[in-house]
Amino acid sequence: MAGVTDHPFRVLCRRFGVGVVYTEFVSANGIIRGGAKTLRMVRFTPNERPIGIQVFGDTPEVIAASVAYLAKKHQPDLIDLNFGCPVPKIVKKGAGSAMLRDLALMRDVVTATVAAAGQVPVTVKMRSGWDSGSLVAIEAAAIIEECGAKALTLHPRTTSQGFTGRADWSLIKAVKEQVGIPVIGNGDIHTADDALRMFDETGCDAVMVARGVLGSPWIFRQIGELLSGGTAIQVNPVLIADTCREHFELLRRYYSERMTVNLSKKHLNWYLKGFPGAAQWRRLFMACDTSAQVDQVVTDFHNFAHTNGEAIIADREPDQVINVN
Ligand SMILES: Cc1cc2nc3c(=O)[nH]c(=O)nc-3n(C[C@H](O)[C@H](O)[C@H](O)COP(=O)(O)O)c2cc1C
Repeated sequence: MAGVTDHPFRVLCRRFGVGVVYTEFVSANGIIRGGAKTLRMVRFTPNERPIGIQVFGDTPEVIAASVAYLAKKHQPDLIDLNFGCPVPKIVKKGAGSAMLRDLALMRDVVTATVAAAGQVPVTVKMRSGWDSGSLVAIEAAAIIEECGAKALTLHPRTTSQGFTGRADWSLIKAVKEQVGIPVIGNGDIHTADDALRMFDETGCDAVMVARGVLGSPWIFRQIGELLSGGTAIQVNPVLIADTCREHFELLRRYYSERMTVNLSKKHLNWYLKGFPGAAQWRRLFMACDTSAQVDQVVTDFHNFAHTNGEAIIADREPDQVINVN
C-alpha cells in the first residue's frame, strides 16, 4: 500500500506473522531515473523476507529494465506487477489498471518482465476490469499464466468502482477455476473471519489484506490462529498500546524528525479508534509537533492502557472500515 507499507510497517506485520509483505508500488520510470525517494522505497532488510517489490509502469521496455535492475540489485522474493491502481495520475499514463484495457500490451509487459526478472518469480496484481462492461479478469488471468507469472492477486472491483461497492468474490472463484497458478484473493477482508470466509467461498490459495491492516497489524496473527483451528486473540487496550509503542519506535529509528511525527500521527489515528476515550487520545496526538511530544503521549497512553485496561472497551466494531480516501 502506497504511503503505508514502508520498512517499519512491514517489520511490524512480519512480527504479527504475515506470510509475505510487499513494498509500496514503485514507478518503473522512477527506478530507471534513479530517484532517491524511489530507490529508498525498494530497500528492505532480511527480517522482512519473504518480500515482493511492486512495480508499475506503462511500457514493456521500461518495466523490464527496472525489473532487471531490482532483481539483480535487491533479489526480492518476488516482483509484483501492478495492474490494479485506479488513480487518475497513474492510469492517464497507461499504467496500473489501464493495462486492463489493453490485454495485448499486458501480454508484452508480463512476458518482458518474466524474462528480465531471471530467477526471481514474477506475480501480478489486478482488478477485474476497467468498468462493469469490460470484466476481463478471467481472460487476463489466462494470459498472465501463459506468460510465466507464478501467481496472481485479484481485487475484484473495476477501475471505475474505485473503492465503492463490494468486491465481487465470485470472480476470485472464477479465476481460481480458470488457472493453475496460485490465486491470491483480495478485497473487503476487515476481520480474520472475513479471511476464512474468502478461503471458503472462493477456494483461493492465499488472501491479501490492505485496509483491514491499518491500525490492526495483529489481523495476520488472528488469521493464522483461525486457520490453525484456534481462537483469534482478542484486541485489548494493552495490545493496542504495546503496538503503538513498537510502531512509533520503528518509525523513529528509520525516519527523520519530520517524517516520524507525520507518519506517527497517521498510524496512531488508525490505531486509536472504536473505544471510549479514543477521540481524546487522538486529539492529544494530533496536537504534537515533535517526536518527543509523540513519545510522551505514546508513553502516557501506554501507562494508561496498562493500568486501566479493563476500563477501556477495545472491542472495535467488527465491520469497521477505515476510510482512507
Ligand atoms: C492507502 C492505500 C494504498 C494502496 N496502495 C496500493 C499499492 O501500492 N499497490 C497495490 O497493488 N494496491 C494498493 N492498494 C489497493 C490494495 O492493495 C487493495 O487491493 C484494496 O485496498 C482492496 O483490498 P482491501 O479491501 O483489503 O483494502 C492501496 C490501497 C490503499 C487503501
